[in-house]
Amino acid sequence: MRKVVRLSVLGAGTVGGGVLTLLRENADLLEAQTGKRFEVRHVLVRDLSKPRAVAVPPKLLTTNPQTALCDPKVDIVLELMGGLEPARTLIRDALQSGKHVITANKLVMAVSGDELIRVAQRHGVRLLYEASVAGSLPILNALQGSLAGNRINRVVGIVNSTTNFILREMERAVDAGEPAETAYNTALRKAQELGYAEAAPSSDVEGYDAQYKTAILARLAFLQYVPLESVYREGISHLSGRDLLWAKRLNMGLKLLSISERLPDGRLCARVHPTLIPRDCPLYLVRGAFSGVWLQGNGFQEMSLHGFGAGALATASAVVGDLIEVARHPKPLRLEDPSLRPGETAPIESLTMRYFVRLSAPSEDALRALREPLQTLGAEFHPSETLQQGIEQVALTPPLNEGEFQTVMTRLREQENGQVQVIRFL
Ligand SMILES: NC(=O)c1ccc[n+]([C@@H]2O[C@H](COP(=O)([O-])OP(=O)(O)OC[C@H]3O[C@@H](n4cnc5c(N)ncnc54)[C@H](OP(=O)(O)O)[C@@H]3O)[C@@H](O)[C@H]2O)c1
Repeated sequence: MRKVVRLSVLGAGTVGGGVLTLLRENADLLEAQTGKRFEVRHVLVRDLSKPRAVAVPPKLLTTNPQTALCDPKVDIVLELMGGLEPARTLIRDALQSGKHVITANKLVMAVSGDELIRVAQRHGVRLLYEASVAGSLPILNALQGSLAGNRINRVVGIVNSTTNFILREMERAVDAGEPAETAYNTALRKAQELGYAEAAPSSDVEGYDAQYKTAILARLAFLQYVPLESVYREGISHLSGRDLLWAKRLNMGLKLLSISERLPDGRLCARVHPTLIPRDCPLYLVRGAFSGVWLQGNGFQEMSLHGFGAGALATASAVVGDLIEVARHPKPLRLEDPSLRPGETAPIESLTMRYFVRLSAPSEDALRALREPLQTLGAEFHPSETLQQGIEQVALTPPLNEGEFQTVMTRLREQENGQVQVIRFL
């Protein structure tokens, strides 16, 4: 690679701005690390007149993707726009024209990563995407590098910092004696005001963002194709401050977890859902807008990574790390990504877990009707509590098969009088 490495940066928003800042502020360090200088030749945006947090020389800005992609002097394209299209097509075009690509785009990598990696291999260029999972945490590099000699058994992570912030806010509100019933909406509003959650927050709060990241993580940890639709997804929008209150009473924390594991029968199960975890679990300490990943492997035993999972400079740190890697090693290894094996994935219904079940009903009779099927399953009950809007009772089940348990829950939810909230234990 040339002494001056030329870049096209697609996107100058949060992450693009962070990358431009690090490239400028750490230019001498990057040169010391690689022996090369990095020169930005094009910055692709939608709106040339938009005010930007990071000043971009106007002559670099373009709204024409072809200007950014077709410049023969450009060696590396940084895709920091987000969304599926046109990002995916631009990544493919860049790889096909012999340019290395670095992306922070979990959606593209979860949906089309396998195909794009093959395109990169065919064209002898590199496609790196560390920033797509857990911001600044070097988890993908660790799985493909220092930890690659281990058989990974389980990966458990908090990979969406927006929902982690909301759950922490709900916990704080409940601890402060604020109304539990409105805790979710209040916390979501605060996350939006602080810029942690978008105005349309469904990608985060319905668990889609964590599902994309789980598919990418599981693929690299278990060296297996992981179709996005095989990753079970449940978000946090149905949670109430009452759930956080009960978590506290049980000396547990409540987190949106990404869990991937190899089952004893060899199948891979990957899932995203709210989970009750012990307060001494390392992931409980992952607070606010942070991310954390805990891994179990047959050599290193266990390990956790914890740090900023989002934000301009934290995410830029991962992008620039990939940039240094490409500048040092522009020739792809034959196994740029692990040679993936087709393997079976297991639906969540195959698992056995313990459950927290919170029943609410307008009367003692209605509550009894909800309670009975759980008694048959061997659940233990906490004393019922009369609240403003009815009676509430919590049951904790013994380990049960998810498929059979959910069949019972579906029947319970069909009852007209009452509500059923189910949360899984780790
Ligand atoms: N934000 C984070 O903390 C974070 C963390 C990890 C990973 N990521 C990933 O990083 C990527 C970028 O996220 P972000 O938060 O930086 O997004 P963002 O702030 O919305 O910025 C997106 C940038 O891309 C440009 N853009 C979008 N669509 C375009 C199009 N069709 N044509 C030309 N330019 C286009 C926008 O141009 P204008 O400015 O003109 O609108 C903007 O500059 C996403 O894949 C995201 O998932 C983000």
